[in-house]
Amino acid sequence: MPKITFVNASAMPGTVPQSAAEELEPLEVAVPAGTSILDAAEHCGAHVGSACGGNLACSTCHVWVLRGYDSLSEIEDAEDDIMDKAFDVREESRLGCQARLSGQDIVVEISPESLQAWLDEHPSERKKAG
Ligand code: FES
Repeated sequence: MPKITFVNASAMPGTVPQSAAEELEPLEVAVPAGTSILDAAEHCGAHVGSACGGNLACSTCHVWVLRGYDSLSEIEDAEDDIMDKAFDVREESRLGCQARLSGQDIVVEISPESLQAWLDEHPSERKKAG
């Protein structure tokens, strides 16, 4: 089964590690091929937002795929359209609810907007985070 690694699985929005000393513990999980990044995140507890419930209507599941991008399912036009709503879109951007793993391992960074959306969806965790 391919593995997915979230480098900032439970980071606070906007706090991307700047150095090895600040490096967050990555969260890694093996999932069956065909699993979406969002489903993998929900399976292992990584903080990927999903305001529309994975229905391709919000862009809150925006992630950057740091390794293994080309192994993911193709981007459809509809994903591209919704991606226009996202902040800081990069060449390695994907929507977690649409991108599916093949047989290859991937490494993902969760965008600040997605981390924020996850916190908004989990108010009790937001309180703990201060
Ligand atoms: S969860 Fe809304 S577009 Fe992916």
